[in-house]
Amino acid sequence: MAFYSLANLVDLYDGFSAAHKVNGRPLLLIQDRGEVFLIENRCPHMDAPLASGRISEGAIVCRAHGIGFDLRSGRARGALSDMLDCLRFFPVVYEGNKVGVEL
Ligand code: FES
Repeated sequence: MAFYSLANLVDLYDGFSAAHKVNGRPLLLIQDRGEVFLIENRCPHMDAPLASGRISEGAIVCRAHGIGFDLRSGRARGALSDMLDCLRFFPVVYEGNKVGVEL
């Protein structure tokens, strides 16, 4: 596995969001309430990129149809929560002053 840097730690802040493609895999790095998350940049509902969504109250809200996905549990919020897949998370890796992923 190789480490891929996605951001400098100093550049992160609550509300930070940056899309990346690593080895052809679409990723989205997010910071919310001091926690860093790395998720697949693909909505579990109908595959829209989540990078254009907004971060609100611990969730990322997909711009396509407005469904919010909890950044801690990965589950959809609201009526469809039992019907949709969860967000796909990747482990966040810290190396020096960088944050990234190992793939
Ligand atoms: S594609 Fe994201 S809410 Fe429909």
